Amino acid sequence: MQFASRLDNVETSAIRELFKLLGTPGIISFAGGFPDSAMFDVKGLKEAANRALDQEAGGALQYGATEGYEPLRKQLSAFMKTKGVEVDPSGLIVTTGSQQALDLLGKTMISPGDKVIVEGPTFLATIQCFRLYGAHLISAPVDANGVKTDELEKLIAEHKPKFVYLIPTFGNPSGAMLSLERRKKVLEMAVKYQTLIVEDDPYGDLYFGEAPPPSILSLSQSVPGSREFIAHCGSLSKVLSPGLRIGWMIAPAELLAKATMCKQFSDAHTSTFAQATAAQYLQSGRMPATLAHVRKVYGERAQAMGAALQRELGDAISFTQPAGGLFFWARLTGANGKLADANVLAQRAIAQLVAFVPGAPFFAENPDVATLRLSFATANVEKIEEGIARLGKAL
Ligand SMILES: Cc1ncc(COP(=O)(O)O)c(C=O)c1O
Repeated sequence: MQFASRLDNVETSAIRELFKLLGTPGIISFAGGFPDSAMFDVKGLKEAANRALDQEAGGALQYGATEGYEPLRKQLSAFMKTKGVEVDPSGLIVTTGSQQALDLLGKTMISPGDKVIVEGPTFLATIQCFRLYGAHLISAPVDANGVKTDELEKLIAEHKPKFVYLIPTFGNPSGAMLSLERRKKVLEMAVKYQTLIVEDDPYGDLYFGEAPPPSILSLSQSVPGSREFIAHCGSLSKVLSPGLRIGWMIAPAELLAKATMCKQFSDAHTSTFAQATAAQYLQSGRMPATLAHVRKVYGERAQAMGAALQRELGDAISFTQPAGGLFFWARLTGANGKLADANVLAQRAIAQLVAFVPGAPFFAENPDVATLRLSFATANVEKIEEGIARLGKAL
């Protein structure tokens, strides 16, 4: 078959191949990027779904507005307010997961050959999605405090990108948290260079200790002129349920209108039943307890993984303990003649019945083969300790 030339830019990810091996019996997997199904608030969601059918079946089962189901837009506006963001329900659209918001941004903003700056490393599906639209991706380096803003500024000045895509809070895969100071710098750059900043924020609510700095969108309220350069993507996937496929995008009106038009041709609207259920859930007041629960459990798992990595791999690995999110981002040091290539380690690890994802595919440019991503979300503390001990043996 003759496929569209836009597919020439995109390959199936190497990670998919690795995922095929995850069905091996007895394997402990740190490879996934998803929450633990055991944490879903099934009772709360069942009640919310029932209320949606009992009270608003007409809306919940009918076609709906492309922008989103009104009761959910209102609830999301209220949810954002708890996070310091003033947004009218009409200032956001509901998307089918935040993944769709990224796709809509690609569709509305990227012409073939356009330059887009992303973090190195960044979310793999974003790399592939933006490339599908013909983006020329440029990587800005990241350290434990998120994207290095000095380097980012140089890249913006040099390349004049169509936009900059950041995951500032507990990034996937970096786990990094952009400091308050750097967030302000990003906003100043947005105004100075008149550059759209996309803030992808599915993990901001998943913090283990102190809350992270406010989102870039929230801070934009204190940097004059910056809000019109911010597009913010949110999601219920990591804190409530990815199967609901509820995400949202807050952006300047002009951009939201174009994205809504593109969404019409894509899925007409996000499932009204899922939206009505999510709206009922948010209205029920269960969310704060759900957030407290996931923060506690993932926090304990992150703690256990950090301690186990230190114990079992010692100076053969370097990492920063994440303060939230789902991931450890680590680097093999090669100390004492140990492995420094995460692809080789991934193969050896499978033989020891433990899996993780090598870091190289998360770089749009200059892949670092010594890096790896480990998720602590789906294994309990005991499994984490056993899995990391196996990893130590594989090294
Ligand atoms: C950084 C980032 N953005 C977006 C998504 C997409 O999430 P969803 O479409 O489920 O909201 C993910 C999921 O892994 C992610 O890690």
